[in-house]
Amino acid sequence: MNLISPQNRIIFPLDVPTPDEALGLVDLLKDRVGVFKIGLELFTACGPSVVKEVKAKAPGAAVFLDMKFHDIPETVKGAMKRAAGLNVDFVTVHCDEGRGLLKAVTEACAGSPTKALGVTVLTSLSEEDLSEAGVDPKYKNPASLVLHRARLARVAGCAGVVCSGLEASVVRAEFGEDFLIVTPGIRSADDDAGDQKRTTTPYEAILNGADYIVVGRPIRNAPDPVKAAQKISSEIERALKNRKICGNF
Ligand code: C5P
Repeated sequence: MNLISPQNRIIFPLDVPTPDEALGLVDLLKDRVGVFKIGLELFTACGPSVVKEVKAKAPGAAVFLDMKFHDIPETVKGAMKRAAGLNVDFVTVHCDEGRGLLKAVTEACAGSPTKALGVTVLTSLSEEDLSEAGVDPKYKNPASLVLHRARLARVAGCAGVVCSGLEASVVRAEFGEDFLIVTPGIRSADDDAGDQKRTTTPYEAILNGADYIVVGRPIRNAPDPVKAAQKISSEIERALKNRKICGNF
């Protein structure tokens, strides 16, 4: 996994409402990050054409279609086939409906280069939020729920999971290197956490075993987004070196 360069481990979400804004950010950051993430806001506003436009503007970057699918298996299977047809590199599905849905998704991706990632527990959720949502108290520690859902994703054939940097080490320890870990909720000490609750720094997330980190507002709202992305790459590089020295993964 260390073959991926530090900057290519940064996933930048295009969380803006118009193609012009999105493509402006792609132009600015295409030499500083490896993956552009198209999520609910941009895709709802622009539809599939924006995927093509991002690819055309940044042919060297990967594209992550973050739809976080959540419906009955047959419906999601159909949607996943359309997503794979757009030749995106990653697509997400929620894990909390269990194996049937996850299996439908991996079947829909079979034979395409698109990788299905299972969203375990959103990084905007705390232990209290899980209890309020009616999650079984035996999973009240988010790490135990992340692990439970990661097991479902793995058995169903997902390429990896999305979880916070706080849980990356237990996921990595259980599944080894051949399972992708994507970590949002990235914040440095002086960043505003916003709606994110289970946060780690870029350094911690990578040291704990994340393959990729999702960094949105800390780059987008920085006075100089290019500099912010460069700083994060250096942090990733340092974490990768220390990960090796520690003998982790
Ligand atoms: O860094 P920032 O908080 O701005 O990142 C927000 C982005 O991270 C959004 O695009 C959101 O969809 C994504 N995200 C995610 N999984 C989570 C939490 C956030 O993909 N668990």
